[in-house]
Amino acid sequence: MSFWNDLASPFLVLAPMEDVTDHVFRRLVADHGEPDVLFTEFTSADFLTSKQPEKALVRLETYDGELSRRPLVAQIWGGNPETLYQAARLVAQKGFAGVDLNMGCPVKKISRKGACSALIRLPSVALEVLQAVREGAWSVSPGFAVSVKTRIGWSRPETEEWCGLLLDQQLDALTIHGRTAKQMSEGEADWKEIAKVVRLRNAKGLATRIIGNGDLTHTALSARFQQTGVDGLMIGRGVFSDIGIFNRESYKPFESWTKEAKIALLERHIRDHEGAWGQSKDYEKLKKFFKVYTSGWDGALELRQLLMETHRHEESLAVLSSLGQKILSSKP
Ligand SMILES: Cc1cc2nc3c(=O)[nH]c(=O)nc-3n(C[C@H](O)[C@H](O)[C@H](O)COP(=O)(O)O)c2cc1C
Repeated sequence: MSFWNDLASPFLVLAPMEDVTDHVFRRLVADHGEPDVLFTEFTSADFLTSKQPEKALVRLETYDGELSRRPLVAQIWGGNPETLYQAARLVAQKGFAGVDLNMGCPVKKISRKGACSALIRLPSVALEVLQAVREGAWSVSPGFAVSVKTRIGWSRPETEEWCGLLLDQQLDALTIHGRTAKQMSEGEADWKEIAKVVRLRNAKGLATRIIGNGDLTHTALSARFQQTGVDGLMIGRGVFSDIGIFNRESYKPFESWTKEAKIALLERHIRDHEGAWGQSKDYEKLKKFFKVYTSGWDGALELRQLLMETHRHEESLAVLSSLGQKILSSKP
């Protein structure tokens, strides 16, 4: 039994998102709500165990006190049992609450390597690498939580065969993104297939927690829970348009936040990013957040356009202190 079994359903999970869910963003989200579990961005087991692991290790960095605040799961990916074994050991040694193996990423340059969603088509390799992850984590901490995040199939839903096989591996948790790998992010997530996984788990009499994922917004949460009986709901892109989506006590849709509050949060995000990473991370990746804060109010577009032209933290902070202040004082 792991921490997953202690969570009352429906529990809420922040999805792993590359170049998004670093510890700066995780802290910002956790300061505005109560996600029950958070995931790191995925990290390559091959890079983590290479001679120059620095870039991969960055993805396992946490802020002070984060590991004792809420369960944080480190997600790893790969197709090599050796490196996955070592990477899972590292995750367990670092004090994460669990390790998650990515079996869902559909990006070609990764699936071509026989990893992530490619494992859906390589079930015997999938079982081998999963076993390596478990053995690695358990060699450090017996019973350490092991989970998988996957999709409903490769080019068509093959939920019963694929998810049934994974369920037979006694996972602590299984996250299902209700799309096939071929679909990438197209179309709608199929929650009927996710409900199938819950029924399969129940029929097998297993304790594996099932987490549904795909297109969740605040208003969809309770309907998806009722409709499928999942134990947990994982939110990815929904957090971009609704930073406070995990707030159960005093939820306020992000669209109703004042522009002052949005600009203040943007400023915090930039400062925290600068404080944590300085110039060591690609500043351009920070830009994908600008739209989150500069949408839905008069002057937002003007501010966003100027921010998109910046190339350093101090430039975006200067834009905020000049134009941001002008916007705040001149428009009601
Ligand atoms: C920018 C971005 C990065 C992502 N990176 C990861 C990742 O590192 N690991 C993973 O399992 N899924 C990753 N995903 C997929 C999400 O975790 C999630 O499964 C998908 O976005 C569907 O959920 P949503 O509709 O709530 O966003 C990523 C998605 C996005 C948009």
